[in-house]
Amino acid sequence: MKTFLISIALFFAINLTAQNIELPQPERTGGMPLMEALNNRQTIRSFQTKELTQQQLSNLLWAAWGINRESGKRTAPSARNFQETDLYVLLKSGVYLYDASKNQLTFVSDKDEREYAGTQDFIKDATVQLVLVADLDRISGGSSGKLNTAYIDAGYISQNIYLWCASEGLGTGARAMINHDELGPRLKLDSNQKIILAHSIGYEN
Ligand SMILES: Cc1cc2nc3c(=O)[nH]c(=O)nc-3n(C[C@H](O)[C@H](O)[C@H](O)COP(=O)(O)O)c2cc1C
Repeated sequence: MKTFLISIALFFAINLTAQNIELPQPERTGGMPLMEALNNRQTIRSFQTKELTQQQLSNLLWAAWGINRESGKRTAPSARNFQETDLYVLLKSGVYLYDASKNQLTFVSDKDEREYAGTQDFIKDATVQLVLVADLDRISGGSSGKLNTAYIDAGYISQNIYLWCASEGLGTGARAMINHDELGPRLKLDSNQKIILAHSIGYEN
């Protein structure tokens, strides 16, 4: 009986882990010259349904908020290196959390929740929705200061997303118009986690 129960537990553990997505190594060289990417940066609100490749997804997430040094620091700065921002990745196949150190998407849900990542009509069309979520418990200080820190830090990540998309010829747009009550439970957020910003990403229509 004991062996049987252990086998069942192992079966479920393996299957849950299997839903994580291992990303290919990000390509950390190349891309468009910075001045050209800045020249092309813009907000896009109309998307094709064409999917990104896993390599593009890996490159996007690394550019946005990947680890770029042995020290574990990132492609974007954060106040006192709190690193309070988490990137939730909403795809057709489900909801995932970007784990920069493992270079993987950690499974959150198998539901397609992309349409809930904003309140505007075009939201449903973009193939990737990134939601920037701050874990306020990782920031020390008073509660109003914590939110300010979270907003500022998310801005750097947002600009990384804009510039990578410009370089890759993809469209993106930052978005604060989000129904927090609708989206939070779909991302399975705790009370210390606050949605700060979202980005649609995809091929421009
Ligand atoms: C913090 C922030 C929040 C934004 N929220 C939204 C939004 O909810 N919906 C939207 O369509 N655009 C949103 N935008 C995009 C702005 O409207 C856009 O950046 C602005 O019109 C300038 O256009 P550009 O990005 O093409 O230069 C947001 C931008 C920022 C920086």
